Formats: sequence, structure tokens, C-alpha cells
Amino acid sequence: MSDRPVLMFDSGIGGLTVLREARVLMPDRRFIYVADDAAFPYGDWEEPALNARIIELFGDLLKRFQPEIAVIPCNTASTLSLAALRETYPGTPFVGTVPAIKPAAERTRSGLVSVLATPGTVKRQYTRDLITQWAQKCHVRLVGSTQLARLAEIYMRDRFVDEEAVRAEIAPCFIEQDGKRTDIVVLACTHYPFLVNRMRKTAPWPVDWLDPAEAIARRAASLLSEIRPRSEASPSSDMRDLAFFTSGKVDFATQRLLQGFGLTLA
Ligand code: DGL
Repeated sequence: MSDRPVLMFDSGIGGLTVLREARVLMPDRRFIYVADDAAFPYGDWEEPALNARIIELFGDLLKRFQPEIAVIPCNTASTLSLAALRETYPGTPFVGTVPAIKPAAERTRSGLVSVLATPGTVKRQYTRDLITQWAQKCHVRLVGSTQLARLAEIYMRDRFVDEEAVRAEIAPCFIEQDGKRTDIVVLACTHYPFLVNRMRKTAPWPVDWLDPAEAIARRAASLLSEIRPRSEASPSSDMRDLAFFTSGKVDFATQRLLQGFGLTLA
């Protein structure tokens, strides 16, 4: 059996925050990073149209790359389409992600938690159900950001970010109530960890910024080792990790970024 890759899917470059962790945990696996940049940002899409797009796109991706498993760290895609993907493509194991509301509810001391996500993720019934299920004793504020994913994309390509814009986007996360303050902000979008230092700098007070990247990578690693332990996989002659961008147009700054992540364009 040849060594089939791990496919990692995001709307843009945000999923690289999870690829980074996945490589640490699975240094001997081969990865295909897919960015649906032709449709970025996912956060602005209406649900039925985005769902249809993702389901159709995966038909092509699974045929083309034949992954052993598919990881969808993108919260906006996963909270919308994970169940439908599993149903449509039962031959492929999927690892999804959901906003880290449960761990935040377990860790908060003040009981004031904010979830920073795209407008799409904030709207999802899935996200609201997570709060009902796991965080009833907390006050959870959902903050939909229209700009942060874009700002992260610019930052990663051009190393520039408008700090005032970051400050304005995160400001609604910070609540003071009955002498207590928000103490955890859940980063419920793969793009946001790239900006976390700027968020720390512009935040009105220190909080824990919960980044689920490592947890997603751990889940992928454990699923893979259940399916096929590494010793059973025969090493492939080509161990390069690939990147596939659906627009087919990858500018110089993006190429440089991919190179920095050790990815070759497919
Ligand atoms: N990276 C995506 C997420 O985790 C969304 C960014 C976007 O396309 O709006 O939710």
C-alpha cells in the first residue's frame, strides 16, 4: 500500500497554524494543504451556497489526492459541513473542529468567556448548541469579526498589520460585569493565532487566548494511528508536502510563505 497523505483544508492560509502542530506530532506523514482561496473569506457566505461548494469541492480533492484522512481545522467550514462531508464521502475519515467552548467553560475563573470567530461561525446553530451543552454556567459572548481573517492573511504575506484595526475587532470580547472580567477568549478561527501577539498587545487586560490547533492535530494523529500505524505504511518515494490553492493564482508573497512552511505548489 502506498503512503497516502493527510489532507488539511481551510478557506485560506489559516489552517497553516494547525499544519504546524500536526507536523510536530506526525513528522513522518505527508501532508497536502488545501486553501479554497477562490472562495475566501468563508465567513461572509450564506450557509446553503457554502455547504454546496465545500461538498462539491471535496469530490474533486478526494479523487485527486486520495488522502488517508481529511482534516478540516477551519471552524467556518467544519461547523457547517462536517456532518454532510462524512455522509457524502463515507470512505474517508474526517477530523473536524468546533469552537473550544467546552475547555473554555472548564477553565474560566470569572465565568466570562468570549468566542472570537467569523460571522458565519457565530451564526451557526452548532455553535449555539455547544454553549447550551457545555457552558450554561458561564456568560459566553459571541463576537463575529468581519476583518480579522483578512488582516491575518495580509500579515502573513506582507508582515504588516494595522494594530488599530486589530484593537477594534477584539474590543467587544472584553466585558466587565459585577466586578468580574472576561478571562478567556476562544480563538475560533484558524487564522487568528497568527495575530495573537498583536491581540495581546492591543487587549485592554491580559486574558488566556485559547488556540485549539494542538488539540486538532492530536485528534488527527490519534485517528491516523488507529487506522494505520506508521510501521504499516510504506514510505513514499516523494515525501514533499504540497499546497493546492483553488484560485490557481498564487502571488509571490504567498509562494514565499508556502516555501517558509516547506510546501511545494501542487
Ligand atoms: N479560517 C476560517 C475559520 O477557521 C475562516 C476564515 C474565513 O474564510 O472567513 O473559521
